[in-house]
Amino acid sequence: MRLLVTGGCGFIGTNFVYMMLEKHPDMVIVNLDKLTYAGNRFNLLPLEERLGGSRYHFVHGDIGNAELAAHLISAYKIDAVVNFAAESHVDRSIADCSPFVRTNVLGAQTLLDVARRLGVPKFVHVSTDEVYGTLGPTGKFTEDTPLAPNSPYSASKASADMICRAFYETYGYNVCITRCSNNYGPYQFPEKLIPLMIRNIIGQQPLPVYGDGLNVRDWLHVKDHSAAVETVLRRGAPGGVYNIGGNNEWRNIDIVNLVCDLLDNRLGRPAGTSRGLVTFVKDRPGHDRRYAIDATRMRNELGWEPSCTFEQGIGETIDWYLANQEWVGEVTSGAYRDYYRKMYGGR
Ligand code: NAD
Ligand code: TYD
Repeated sequence: MRLLVTGGCGFIGTNFVYMMLEKHPDMVIVNLDKLTYAGNRFNLLPLEERLGGSRYHFVHGDIGNAELAAHLISAYKIDAVVNFAAESHVDRSIADCSPFVRTNVLGAQTLLDVARRLGVPKFVHVSTDEVYGTLGPTGKFTEDTPLAPNSPYSASKASADMICRAFYETYGYNVCITRCSNNYGPYQFPEKLIPLMIRNIIGQQPLPVYGDGLNVRDWLHVKDHSAAVETVLRRGAPGGVYNIGGNNEWRNIDIVNLVCDLLDNRLGRPAGTSRGLVTFVKDRPGHDRRYAIDATRMRNELGWEPSCTFEQGIGETIDWYLANQEWVGEVTSGAYRDYYRKMYGGR
């Protein structure tokens, strides 16, 4: 199979590209990435060194560039597109929505349009559970839950989902949409909850918890998400929408405390030390209270289920960040420092 993967230098894309090339010796991947602050070409350097020019091709560019997309699809005889490329951080979308509309809406539409016109047999659009909005204390999102996005980020993702739906209904184009819950694992940019907390605990900096800390997220290891995306790529029905999640709900404050305790233990600090760094800060505007995913369709129709327990996954993730502090230092140098100062004050 010859895949065009977009956003392959980001968190989930990196994990997906490694998984696919390791698992399938005959697979070819073209990775189209704009290298925004969140994209790091060096994540995949070992692949460039080993498979560059044969099974792995990195292309620096924008999914909104129709000519470039058309050239890549023709030149590499692409069988399927997997679109991970996006602006992905809710807090940044609150500060400025424009890049979100440009990439997540117009970029996705451009890529979809080119893929359809050139007859690419399959298109997987990677979306998010956040398009459903927020839940009360009970219930879960199913694929039939009405879309009710609350943040500029989720509104941009929901817009692209609607365009994908229209391409199936109008042209019969073979597009699938995946809607996954919060991911964690290696290579996640430290603006997101878990890696931000890990970094600040290691550096003994305040741990900013929004509002009362009781918002709930449903966490899934990135390798289980990657496997689910492959399952949809291979077996998803045309026009199909698939919720992906791990039945693993946590209140933010509980996850922060857990990460504190696991790191205290690994760093030889007295139990309870890092919990003392927790600082409740002003809530995120429009902060969704609870996400929870019903992934029955993925299990019953496509036979996917998560394989990684949270206990194992979070431990491995913490160990990865401890072993890769140089990576964290590199991706958080420069512009990230300005972002952090604006967002949280201080350093
Ligand atoms: P990320 O921010 O870590 O990476 C995004 C990647 O896309 C970066 O490499 C960036 O350089 C690239 N990119 C951005 N704009 C681009 C453009 N115009 N053209 C080409 N490349 C561009 O994001 P992530 O966490 O890896 O998320 C990947 C996808 O999965 C996104 O579509 C996101 O909405 C979705 N998703 C993420 C999560 C999560 O928990 N992280 C959960 C569900 C769904
Ligand atoms: P985040 O990782 O940004 O993912 P999302 O908003 O897409 O779910 O945030 C996860 C949860 O953690 C969310 O409820 C907001 C909260 N949060 C904090 O409390 N403090 C922080 O510094 C960050 C980044 C997030």
